[in-house]
Amino acid sequence: MRHHIHHLAHKPSANLIMTPPFILVFLLLTQVITATTAGQRYANITRGTTLTAQGSPSSWLSPSGDFALGFYPLDSDTSLFLLAVWYDSTSPKAVVWSANRDAPVAAGSTLQLTSDGRLSLKDQDGKQVWNAGAANASFAALLDTGNLVLAASSSNFLWQSFDFPTDTLLPGQVLTQGSSLRSQLTDSDTSDGRFQLVAQTDGNLVLYPLALPTGNQYVAYWSTGTTGSGNQLVYNETGSLYYAVSNGTIVGISPTSTYSTGNFYQRARLDPDGVFRQYIYPKNGTAGGSLRKTWNAVAKVPLDICRDLVVENVGSGVCGFNSYCSSDGDQTRINCMCPPQYSFIDPDKKYKGCKQDFLQICEGYNPGEFELIPVDNVDWPYYDYEYYTNVDQDRCAQYCLEDCFCVVAIFWSNDGGCWKKRQPLAHGRMGSYVDRRALIKVSKSNASLTLPPGPVTTITKKQRTPMNRVGSALLWCSGFLNLILVALMSVTVLGHRRKRGQMLQRQTSMSVVNLRVFSYQELEEATNGFKDELGRGAFGVVYKGVLASNIRTDIAVKRLDRLLHLDNDKEFTNEVRSIGQTHHKNLVKLIGYCDEGSHRLLVYEYMSNGALTGFLFGDVKLQWEQRVQIILGIARGLLYLHEECSTPIVHCDIKPQNVLLDDKFVARISDFGLAKLLKSDHTRTITGIRGTRGYVAPEWFKSMAITKKVDVYSFGVMMLEIICCRKNLETEIGEVEEEEPVLVYWAYDCYKDGRLDLLMKNDEEAMSDSSRVGRFVTVAIWCIQEDPSLRPSMHMVTQMLEGAVPVPMPPDISSSASSR
Ligand SMILES: *[C@@H]1O[C@H](CO)[C@@H](O)[C@H](O)[C@H]1NC(C)=O
Ligand SMILES: *[C@@H]1O[C@H](CO)[C@@H](O)[C@H](O)[C@H]1NC(C)=O
Ligand SMILES: *[C@@H]1O[C@H](CO)[C@@H](O)[C@H](O)[C@H]1NC(C)=O
Ligand SMILES: *[C@@H]1O[C@H](CO)[C@@H](O)[C@H](O)[C@H]1NC(C)=O
Ligand SMILES: *[C@@H]1O[C@H](CO)[C@@H](O)[C@H](O)[C@H]1NC(C)=O
Ligand SMILES: *[C@@H]1O[C@H](CO)[C@@H](O)[C@H](O)[C@H]1NC(C)=O
Repeated sequence: MRHHIHHLAHKPSANLIMTPPFILVFLLLTQVITATTAGQRYANITRGTTLTAQGSPSSWLSPSGDFALGFYPLDSDTSLFLLAVWYDSTSPKAVVWSANRDAPVAAGSTLQLTSDGRLSLKDQDGKQVWNAGAANASFAALLDTGNLVLAASSSNFLWQSFDFPTDTLLPGQVLTQGSSLRSQLTDSDTSDGRFQLVAQTDGNLVLYPLALPTGNQYVAYWSTGTTGSGNQLVYNETGSLYYAVSNGTIVGISPTSTYSTGNFYQRARLDPDGVFRQYIYPKNGTAGGSLRKTWNAVAKVPLDICRDLVVENVGSGVCGFNSYCSSDGDQTRINCMCPPQYSFIDPDKKYKGCKQDFLQICEGYNPGEFELIPVDNVDWPYYDYEYYTNVDQDRCAQYCLEDCFCVVAIFWSNDGGCWKKRQPLAHGRMGSYVDRRALIKVSKSNASLTLPPGPVTTITKKQRTPMNRVGSALLWCSGFLNLILVALMSVTVLGHRRKRGQMLQRQTSMSVVNLRVFSYQELEEATNGFKDELGRGAFGVVYKGVLASNIRTDIAVKRLDRLLHLDNDKEFTNEVRSIGQTHHKNLVKLIGYCDEGSHRLLVYEYMSNGALTGFLFGDVKLQWEQRVQIILGIARGLLYLHEECSTPIVHCDIKPQNVLLDDKFVARISDFGLAKLLKSDHTRTITGIRGTRGYVAPEWFKSMAITKKVDVYSFGVMMLEIICCRKNLETEIGEVEEEEPVLVYWAYDCYKDGRLDLLMKNDEEAMSDSSRVGRFVTVAIWCIQEDPSLRPSMHMVTQMLEGAVPVPMPPDISSSASSR
């Protein structure tokens, strides 16, 4: 638990709805933070008043205190400041207007309403950098709407910041014909960016990509298609955002104010990724309902910029050259990714694109040094230089491999289309709507050096034999199965072993290689000599580490000390590489590994919020809505492992300890794919199994076939734990009242008697969502059926949880009660 608090202490803006112990920490922190930038409330800023960057105060607050005007330190360099207006009472704060975003000023710069009524920004040398362009103002004021005005009188404004928007609109503000918003370059670089939203004089509202540095417009990627004079983009006082056409028509962006300005702070911003998003922030905990106390994106145009921004033969697209863009249903940002064996030219400026990490030149070109990696649902439309029809994938790959110009071939299985592409690749996009497969040329020699890019499937030519899904799923579990069976003195071990050996042969021939190989020394340095222990699991100890390069990456290093004695060195690498093939946002990503002599370590991305257990059974509990999202996330992750990844994986050890939470409290399943590496004769391993008592499906104890349904069972148990914030089996006596000893039976009894209120007592938030509670509990009861064939598949589970299909009444589980 200390670990979590520590984490929050460094990130007071963590998206956590707080429960009491946190509120205290949080309040203390907010005070420290606001003390350094504290502003004073001003109804009127009178002539002669001066504000100094890094002075005290260095901002003036609006009468309500919601907005501040003053010097806002840059995220990227806190010694430089924007003259800006920002939301001051939110966390994080949000800049809504700035005067000098292309030319930030240093400490000592001043803002003054001069004696002749001008608002003037001077840098530290006293040179004027900016002025509002109006004179004779009797006062300036930052209104509670966030509008900075220069006024002759309280009704006569000479100048207002609402007329000179940067990238943001606020409720009460309109974008009139001829004006525009321009995105900033990146999240941290405030200079003029790559996208523009223009209310054109012809009556059209248009989003353009721009060429840098000149800023000329390329072809629009979104527009209202309207004409007429007087059309304007309106963000009205009640929070409706729409384009009002002069003939009375409205083109809605977020036209109905579901979120009132009374309960929510709001803003609409043209973000650095080219998406115009409406954000809201609940003013107080209760008004937000299920929304977290942070800036939530609730509406956007275009709906999927990765799909929509495609310009023929000019520009790089949303992401930079040689990269590709994925929206993946995420409201708040798009994701730019490099192909395998490519890396960002500048990781802080991803729009600059990716470069090859290997050398491909035509002089002395030898096709034997290269291979092609297929990545599904990726395409770079246009920029082809050769096109074939009626070829198969092998032929398509061969043509690209033999051609020293070709860096990618795009294959379309429908008609055997094959497009060859050379650098730079542009308008790259990934999504289920792209029914193409990209065959990406990489170097064989440094095959294992790059980080995993995206959903890479399997490798090159011929080798791939279709595997029986259930068969290979069984395989994944077989190590663990063996373990149990050994423990139970069963005799079926040898058969499974032999079968596994055969399957491995096949995998060996597939050289999937998108993991980074670390040396032991590198990891020793990264973890500072294995000092910071994060936890201990069935496989060994996990340490925290940091990869120091031009971007700092936190990692978790798992030191495997209880491995099966592997006959063959390649076996370990093969297992690990198979894990490296999995890519899903609800799985913990494997970054690389080390296999050096007796040292075997796995390197994962670091999950700042640790295991789910810390937020279920301790003092700090997650809110109901967060728990719902976590359940859905785990279900999707498991569905991916069972049915969507190239080699199906049965986890075999689903429990809250194996679900980690990232910085956004997204559930990420860990420790998958490793079960068969466990050393079966190790006593601590046996202890490890006992530790998961309570989650283990009954068939483990009956020498029955082990299928994906063992995970469904464990998922059902865990779901009840997440719903009720209670362990299935309490380990300490006296923790629960006697009539509710085992959660699954207690839950079933409550369900049968129609008394979910007993189950959810003390959780008003969940009870106010009783229909969902009912549905979730019913699904859980389906999952914990004794007969594996009665349990639904994870596909069915996710559909029922999401409410896409009705949930029938489950059969009785009492028979399974007697059998244990
Ligand atoms: C601000 O100043 C103007 C002009 O001096 C005055 O008319 C107005 O009442 C002042 N407003 C407040 C809230 O003090
Ligand atoms: C400011 O006021 C003075 C005196 O009333 C006037 O002469 C001058 O033109 C005004 N300046 C502007 C920019 O309005
Ligand atoms: C108003 O103009 C828009 C486009 O300019 C058009 O689609 C719409 O039909 C017009 N509505 C009326 C009522 O004329
Ligand atoms: C804002 O727009 C919505 C939708 O057109 C409308 O219902 C609401 O009355 C408007 N509010 C104000 C203050 O104009
Ligand atoms: C939260 O907002 C709602 C709606 O404005 C209001 O009724 C309630 O009193 C507020 N609660 C607190 C604690 O400020
Ligand atoms: C990959 O190999 C090429 C030569 O084949 C070399 O120049 C390049 O530095 C290697 N890349 C990395 C990341 O080691």
